[in-house]
Amino acid sequence: MRAGDVQADLSKVLYTEQQLRARIAEVARQIEADYTAEPPLLVGVLKGAVMIMADLSRELKFMPEMDWMAVSSYGAGTKSSGVVKILKDLDTDVMGRDVLIVEDIIDSGLTLSWLKENLLTRGAKSVKICTMLRKPEALKTDISVEYIGYDIPSEFVVGYGLDYAEKYRNLRDIAVLAPHVYEN
Ligand code: PRP
Repeated sequence: MRAGDVQADLSKVLYTEQQLRARIAEVARQIEADYTAEPPLLVGVLKGAVMIMADLSRELKFMPEMDWMAVSSYGAGTKSSGVVKILKDLDTDVMGRDVLIVEDIIDSGLTLSWLKENLLTRGAKSVKICTMLRKPEALKTDISVEYIGYDIPSEFVVGYGLDYAEKYRNLRDIAVLAPHVYEN
């Protein structure tokens, strides 16, 4: 689905499919330069990371293993409480492995902060983070992120894996959702 197919639902397109692809190629070159000895284990965080995992992994010039986790924040009903429940765990033992977490967006940073710590506790040799988007204004924790597609303002963005009520994930571009969609 393209932005033009749901034009009335969007305020503006932030990044087109072509821009995203070009940026991912740049990030892939950084990752290749950093992991010269052995490819990292790519850990995608469901569901939003499906698109970046697919594109980043195919862009890389080495053969990483890929695994997936599904997590959800729970607690006070807020999306990012920092208390994380594992809904689907890795199939892979990360002991002694270099792990690269692949995410669509870092908002408060609480999910990734927890996840990084969790993987280190399991004995991962290193845990780095790659995210397509980061909202610096929304960060609630000091988390280092090694690979970032774009820093964006705190707006409601959808597409390229990012959803609103489970919709718009299949939008090829990343766009700001029009307020009338979520204010009703
Ligand atoms: C999003 C995103 C991160 C998390 C970031 O997932 O993929 O996992 O929120 O938020 P934080 O930085 O504030 O912790 P979401 O819970 O929307 O699930 P989804 O990937 O299935 O859409």
